[in-house]
Amino acid sequence: MAKDISYSCTDCGAVTSKWSGRCESCGAWNTIEEDQPLSSGPKSKSLGKHRGKPIELTDLATEQKDPPRTLAGVSELDRVLGGGLVKASALLVGGDPGIGKSTLLLQAAARFARNGLKVVYISGEESSAQVQMRARRLGLTESPVQLAAATNLRNILTTLEAEKPDLAIIDSIQTMWADNVDSAPGSVSQVRASAHELTTFAKSQGISVVMVGHVTKEGALAGPRVVEHMVDTVLYFEGERGHQFRLLRAVKNRFGPADEIGVFEMTGKGLAEVKNPSALFLSDRGDPAPGSVVFAGIEGNRPMLCEIQALVAPSPHSQPRRSVVGWDGARLAMILAVLESRCGLAFAGLDVYLNVAGGLRISEPGADLAIAAALVSAREESALPKEAVVFGEISLSGALRPVAQTENRLKEAEKLGFTSAISSQSQKKRAASGLELREMADLATFIKEVFGAQ
Ligand code: TYD
Ligand code: MG
Repeated sequence: MAKDISYSCTDCGAVTSKWSGRCESCGAWNTIEEDQPLSSGPKSKSLGKHRGKPIELTDLATEQKDPPRTLAGVSELDRVLGGGLVKASALLVGGDPGIGKSTLLLQAAARFARNGLKVVYISGEESSAQVQMRARRLGLTESPVQLAAATNLRNILTTLEAEKPDLAIIDSIQTMWADNVDSAPGSVSQVRASAHELTTFAKSQGISVVMVGHVTKEGALAGPRVVEHMVDTVLYFEGERGHQFRLLRAVKNRFGPADEIGVFEMTGKGLAEVKNPSALFLSDRGDPAPGSVVFAGIEGNRPMLCEIQALVAPSPHSQPRRSVVGWDGARLAMILAVLESRCGLAFAGLDVYLNVAGGLRISEPGADLAIAAALVSAREESALPKEAVVFGEISLSGALRPVAQTENRLKEAEKLGFTSAISSQSQKKRAASGLELREMADLATFIKEVFGAQ
């Protein structure tokens, strides 16, 4: 019987049944290698006779103490961690190169060190002098953080075992080199092996390990998410280069709620907490203009108001442009189709530009109504009242669907001085609020009531 041999790409991890010079998945050359079976010893050929040791079983009711945590004292960071850093946990902080991961972690390292943890910061990308220069700029030189520039994982683990810190920061996992794996640093096999070693090390030694991971252009951590399932917590650091604000988002957290976000602002002196993000996003809003609508959104579990801008202009092209920044292009196409077929507002022959101001990326469908309002407002050249916020999901039939966390959205709008809210009908009875509420059942009613169009 022929032995089953499989091959996989050391860059992207794609598995194929035959060898080739170029990976069909990612297009890289000379990266296809034969997969080694887990073990080729005669004894371990089959698990059929399973002569392992019995493991101890327990029931679900056994009481476990909450793991010990340490607060950083930066509420935006502590919240995302689910209430502080958990002892012996493994974390991954992902984000685009240059977005500010090293800055964030150096600042966090300094905070934890000041709060009594022993912290070691290992930089595989920058020299110690470069990190020290950054620390000077951030005013952190007084903090008792231990620093090293190293990439050899064996040396790093040996050092950490001897030093026994409470927290070790590895910047970044893509620069680590495990000498028992036969491929270049940054390749999938190296990233996977290094992350695995560091995670098991964290658990066995009781040391919290934070790994930095650069995200590839496609949005996946290099080494197709191989690290994400190993660690306890995955945080993403997001933001637009040209904008000041940064979002730290928990996409996975074994010790707290996922989907929490923390908001920071990149300043000349490092990252500063933003306690009231809505005020930041709305700060440069001028007088009401056609095409501008304030959306009362929810990011993670926090209400966040932001401005949505649309511009509609006659198109010189046979295929009009649909240009979107900060929102999903396919969802825009859907809303344009609903506006056309359910409300009789055609956008054929018109270029449409849509922008979420401030560089925020919105993904919740609750923004549908605000997007539609911005589009119609731009098309009809009629501005919405300045003191109104808008939210609601649009279904293909043109009906408006209720959205989650209505109360939170309204409270935030009221806090920021808005006086009315236009939304889909909510199922729950709302507590009396200072806002004038205008609930609509469908998109056509909304357009008629707000713009008097059709
Ligand atoms: P960095 O933390 O090096 O990014 P990453 O580790 O994610 O690659 O951040 C680099 C950017 O941050 C760089 O463009 C300069 C900017 N920056 C500031 O604006 N203010 C500061 O105080 C610091 C330290 C960096
Ligand atoms: Mg960096």
